[in-house]
Amino acid sequence: MNTLMSNPVSSTTGKIRTVELGSGGPLVGVQGFGAMGISVAYGDTDVAAARDTLEASLEAGVTLIDTADMYGHGSNEEFLAPFVAAHRDEITLATKFGFELRADDPNYRGISNDPGYLRRAVEASLRRLDVDVIDLYYMHRRDPAVPLAESVGTMAELVREGKVKHLGLSEVTGAELREAYAVHPITALQSEWSVFSRDVEHSAVGAAAALGVAFVPYSPLGRGFLTGAFTDANEELSSSDFRTLLPRFSGDNARANAALLAPLHAIAADRGASTAQIALAWVQQRAEVHGLTVVPIPGTRKRSRLLENAAATRITLTAEELALLEPIAGQVAGDRYADMSHTSAAREAK
Ligand SMILES: NC(=O)c1ccc[n+]([C@@H]2O[C@H](COP(=O)([O-])OP(=O)(O)OC[C@H]3O[C@@H](n4cnc5c(N)ncnc54)[C@H](OP(=O)(O)O)[C@@H]3O)[C@@H](O)[C@H]2O)c1
Repeated sequence: MNTLMSNPVSSTTGKIRTVELGSGGPLVGVQGFGAMGISVAYGDTDVAAARDTLEASLEAGVTLIDTADMYGHGSNEEFLAPFVAAHRDEITLATKFGFELRADDPNYRGISNDPGYLRRAVEASLRRLDVDVIDLYYMHRRDPAVPLAESVGTMAELVREGKVKHLGLSEVTGAELREAYAVHPITALQSEWSVFSRDVEHSAVGAAAALGVAFVPYSPLGRGFLTGAFTDANEELSSSDFRTLLPRFSGDNARANAALLAPLHAIAADRGASTAQIALAWVQQRAEVHGLTVVPIPGTRKRSRLLENAAATRITLTAEELALLEPIAGQVAGDRYADMSHTSAAREAK
């Protein structure tokens, strides 16, 4: 294997490089921070450690901070509020609406892009985050019952009213991105993209590149699977962990998927890097192939891992290494979600 050991892969010292988030968008660190897992979804949180991890993000130049109203039914936004207040001018704050939050049923998972609901959702996010304006406001999921022109039109009104600075979409197809962009410029498209999940390469990635929309890959570490931490995930996850519900993490699928990671482990060992770093370098480079600005948002509760992940922005994989990773996604066992109906892939397949 051709190695480039000159790549520094130990924890970053100093800040990562910056990039314009989409044409005319804010300047952000080339890697962002996915804040969901610091307080919900992936097991217990040590609050002090999670807060220290947030501080470490800024030390590393990781400035795009990602949350959503549905993470913990608003509690993730509330968890972030003190950090946001302390660093308002240093961060680009992104949140999302689209999963309908119902006060009487925290487990309700329906989607709403209804303009009236959207207006209530943005006010609630502004209140929980304790800010006057949201830097990047995403439609989390598309609600096919509402025409895109209507929902994106309402999002555009929020920009004009000064409640939101930039617009984003999550889990939309290339055609939907183009349709939305015709209503108002879209700064970022956030969808799952990793060595493990490449369905966005069918149409969304090409459309984003053509429009000058930045791509924000979510779960770039395959929700932790690509760190090599799982071999038989059902046994390894606590019952409250959301991943127990994901087909890729269950039983035979998890065992088969763990075996697929052999090339990732080999490249990491060869470079003295972690498998997480190689997975992050892959998504960064894969986007460059498409001429796309990319800002992955890995999540972690640990300072050391945040710094490790940030250091991956300095890794350049060789063509030989990329070729070794190429077949993995096509062989993954199990879908990304137990219910794929809200994903762009499902609408693309129709
Ligand atoms: N738009 C959407 O629909 C959508 C969906 C899912 C997620 N997201 C966003 O994307 C963000 C990131 O995705 P994600 O959290 O699902 O998955 P991810 O970033 O792919 O993986 C996170 C998991 O990896 C572990 N991890 C992180 N860095 C590590 C390292 N260097 N070594 C070992 N383990 C490491 C974390 O555990 P520890 O905490 O223990 O380190 C955590 O369990 C979320 O926080 C959220 O903001 C958006």
